[in-house]
Amino acid sequence: MKNLNGKIALVTGASRGIGVHIINSLTEKGINVIGVARNKEGLENTKEIVKSNLGNFEYLQFDLSETSKLYNLTNQLMDKEIDYLINNAGIEIYRSFEDYKLDDIQKIVNVNLLGPMELTRLLIPKIKANKGNIVNIASLAGKKGVIYNGIYSSTKAGLILWSDALDQELKEFEVGVTAICPGYIADTGMFKDGGYAPPALLGESAPQLVGKAVIDAITKGKKEIIVNSGPIRPLLAIGQIFPRVSDVIIKWFGVPELCRKRAFESKGGNRT
Ligand SMILES: NC(=O)c1ccc[n+]([C@@H]2O[C@H](COP(=O)([O-])OP(=O)(O)OC[C@H]3O[C@@H](n4cnc5c(N)ncnc54)[C@H](OP(=O)(O)O)[C@@H]3O)[C@@H](O)[C@H]2O)c1
Repeated sequence: MKNLNGKIALVTGASRGIGVHIINSLTEKGINVIGVARNKEGLENTKEIVKSNLGNFEYLQFDLSETSKLYNLTNQLMDKEIDYLINNAGIEIYRSFEDYKLDDIQKIVNVNLLGPMELTRLLIPKIKANKGNIVNIASLAGKKGVIYNGIYSSTKAGLILWSDALDQELKEFEVGVTAICPGYIADTGMFKDGGYAPPALLGESAPQLVGKAVIDAITKGKKEIIVNSGPIRPLLAIGQIFPRVSDVIIKWFGVPELCRKRAFESKGGNRT
């Protein structure tokens, strides 16, 4: 088992939601965490939580949609060793495709895909030097297209394949790259905050399980981890062979109906 004590992780999406659970899992193992997000109050709240668990957490406020300025963030990390980069920040906007503005599309792609790529590119020399890990929080939405959330879905599919390619590329440097694919997450985060019940057959998972998956990614070098309460892998396999059949199964589970509600009901399902 790797000794994680005293290592340093940069975690994006540190101000609320799943990010807080990922940070708790890391700090419980003695890893010092630098969090990134925009909201200062949320970041301070995370700091209090970590402090009460006797962990070490500091943060940098940054808007990750400003991908061409990410060097301003990494310049502030020049004197730090970075062992692990956890690209967790993400946004989604449920909408009919024709109703998206170019600005919406760019923002989702920037935060969910281009941002992780550029942040990784800038930090790779440090991570290589430390034989560290890169962990990308993708989604089951990257495994099967999600209606009215297709931009999000495509960014998560992009994260999964980019992680696969980068893992192969960095193997000779002993750097592991993992894609974590959560399904619906309970208690906190963008799905919970939308206020909808998940389709019964797919269920929900505790956010702590995403934190555990991050530790497994780092310690066991896993390439891809699915966090979901139901048996999703056989369904994904069926979808690879018979894509139309998986449309029928997903419909039977009630996923398109839920997505339609999230796109068109006033409470919506958007998180920007
Ligand atoms: N919740 C689920 O059911 C679920 C399922 C599958 C995958 N995921 C993935 O898990 C990850 C975390 O999601 P979550 O549910 O915890 O979402 P969340 O509660 O909405 O939190 C998102 C985090 O990302 C940060 N963020 C968003 N836009 C940002 C920006 N422009 N610059 C900097 N930080 C930004 C937010 O911080 P600020 O607003 O303070 O900037 C916040 O800390 C995402 O990648 C999501 O796609 C979630």
